[in-house]
Amino acid sequence: MKTYMRNIALACCAAAFCTVSCSGPSGGRDADAGKKADELLARMTLREKIGQMNQVSGGYGLMDMAAKGEVGSILNCVDPVEINAVQKAAVEQSRLGIPLLVSRDVIHGFRTIFPIPLGQAATFDPAIVERGARVAAVEASASGIRWTFSPMLDVARDPRWGRVAEGSGEDPYLASLMGEAMVRGYQGDSLCSRSSIAACIKHFAGYGAAEGGRDYNSTMISERSLRNTYLPPFKACADAGAATLMTSFNEIDGVPSTGNRWLLKDILRDEWGWEGMVVTDWNSAGEMIAHGFSRDLEHSAEQALNAGVDMDMMSFGFISHMEKLVAEGRVSEDDIDRAVRNILKLKFELGLFDSPYVDVEASAAADYAPEHLEAAYQCALESAVLLKNEGSVLPLDNAGTVLVTGPLADAPYEQMGTWAFDGQKEHVVTPLAALRSRYDVIWEPGLEYSRDTDKSSFARVRAAAAKADAAIVFVGEEAILSGEAHSLSDLCMQGSQSELLRAVHESGKPVVAVVMAGRPLTIERDLENCDAMLYAFHPGTMGGPALADLISGKASPSGKLPMTMLRHAGQAPFYYNHNNTGRPCNGTETLLADIPVGAGQTSLGCTSYYLDTGYGPLFPFGYGLSYASFSYGKPELESFSLERDGILRASVRLENTGDMTATEVVQLYVQDIVGSVVRPVKELRRFERVTLAPGESRAVGFELPVSELAFWNAEMEHVVEPGDFRLWIAGDSASGEPVLFTVR
Ligand code: GLC
Repeated sequence: MKTYMRNIALACCAAAFCTVSCSGPSGGRDADAGKKADELLARMTLREKIGQMNQVSGGYGLMDMAAKGEVGSILNCVDPVEINAVQKAAVEQSRLGIPLLVSRDVIHGFRTIFPIPLGQAATFDPAIVERGARVAAVEASASGIRWTFSPMLDVARDPRWGRVAEGSGEDPYLASLMGEAMVRGYQGDSLCSRSSIAACIKHFAGYGAAEGGRDYNSTMISERSLRNTYLPPFKACADAGAATLMTSFNEIDGVPSTGNRWLLKDILRDEWGWEGMVVTDWNSAGEMIAHGFSRDLEHSAEQALNAGVDMDMMSFGFISHMEKLVAEGRVSEDDIDRAVRNILKLKFELGLFDSPYVDVEASAAADYAPEHLEAAYQCALESAVLLKNEGSVLPLDNAGTVLVTGPLADAPYEQMGTWAFDGQKEHVVTPLAALRSRYDVIWEPGLEYSRDTDKSSFARVRAAAAKADAAIVFVGEEAILSGEAHSLSDLCMQGSQSELLRAVHESGKPVVAVVMAGRPLTIERDLENCDAMLYAFHPGTMGGPALADLISGKASPSGKLPMTMLRHAGQAPFYYNHNNTGRPCNGTETLLADIPVGAGQTSLGCTSYYLDTGYGPLFPFGYGLSYASFSYGKPELESFSLERDGILRASVRLENTGDMTATEVVQLYVQDIVGSVVRPVKELRRFERVTLAPGESRAVGFELPVSELAFWNAEMEHVVEPGDFRLWIAGDSASGEPVLFTVR
């Protein structure tokens, strides 16, 4: 009888809370969510409150914890039946029946896998990125997942760091726009729509600046660099309505982010006024012991809560020690209430009290829907970057017999890239499969996987090349070689891939290299052994058809590099938006091979470069070719002198001087020539994808509020400083002639 009455009581309670109609303006939220959270909070015991702050992964005794109300969120459960079972334990067995937040790393797709985020950034197309996030939300939510740990907003300038694969590269503006697109896609028009999932902007903050590109390593970031470079994407996405945020593993100048009150309260809450929910990274609270910041797990829990963390992912510090910390006055119950309110508010906003369970029968219905595959195809098509096309070898529109070789040609699992947990390789269409319908293909793998050094089948490859009209060599990285904890000190192609490419090139036939990788590799020597190179990052489920259509000329490549491509790993960190230094490279540099024996100490000139690799990168940020050629006129400005509250209007005439319709990403860069602190030599401020037919030309215009030129200056004020500026409009960060304008 008691259970029956309790369930009736709960049903009334739930009904009282669940009157939200799931509608509302874009990014709409249940306006009463906060009030409902307060009402529920008032009825909770301290133990129940702490239970909500505890996030636990599948396989850690979830059923028992859920039934006791000792877990508020679960992760890494993707089976709808299992999710419903744990949810039922929470809703029907715990005293208050508070539903669980079900979460997962849905990083670039759930079932339908899109290109890795770095590849998505290469599209310079927020619209397709938003579509991808929407697809991911529809597929993941149908399986019961309502919270993803994405987008990753870490600005990254060191390709040795394996997690560059998960972000949007080296530029804060590009990372901001890509992140906002993902937040919109995941959260949809209304967070409580069943197909919406809460976004989680991560890793807050500065994680991508790991010294040496070695994951989890220390970061030494000044407040000004943090504010001018690493925080803007988070601020943009916080303003775009991101529902949650994840603290990062790293320490900034000795303070781990998970215990950094200045970050989590002073900036995030007080300065930005953000009201979302903060979760730690996996055990990042507990890892403050290893950092040497916490004495023990109890101390780390105290520090994390007092710094502003709401939910503890997998350290068990909150659930194990929080009551004692309250009893000893080391944390306040007000702070616990603040954390629990953020958690409950999100659950109300997601409509979980209304409908906590997933419809198991319908859970897979949306997976791999044709429109999902089409979106993944389009994204893969736009994410490939054409780095070289000697003699217009591409498109291969008149080749009959084509040799397809290389370890990434028919590697469905690798093609999905890192963080593709729930993609199913059986649904991946590989380039080999797609090319078979376009050419008479001779298939010779040459190597079994990217690290393979067994060259015993190279003779077969050579023989096949002799019989073919052209060769396409798919090389790069296995998925495991990028992503979390997968740093590399050497960025050259692994195994005997470069030798394979050389062997094919020695055939004298036209050679197209296609690179599938999680990062920009150092491929200068490989460029010498191919006539054309497409850099496809890891292109996901539909990478095969997309690459086959690019190779055969059904579409032209349009991707642009979201990260600088180095000549040598030793140049890292290298990025286009760098400061100039007092001795910038000026073209007078003497390279190793040209240094006379016995050269005088200062005879080589004293500028900032490397004796062996010189200064510049292999390819600059924003670089990418197409099957057309584009000519840019001189940038035209509406005004050359602007007020600080004015709007800069600039335009350029773009012409397709080629013989194929193609898309160019027109990029607008600005340099603040003199500042109270030195400013980057240029910064991306606008971009637009423009498609033109052969011979077609168009005026491409941009508007840029002068206020967007603000930066954190010597006084640590966020202001626009008057003075002279340069402006470029070009096809990459190293091209174009600047025009000058002044801000009064
Ligand atoms: C991982 C990652 C983080 C991820 C989390 C949950 O260690 O750092 O990005 O979301 O744990 O899997």
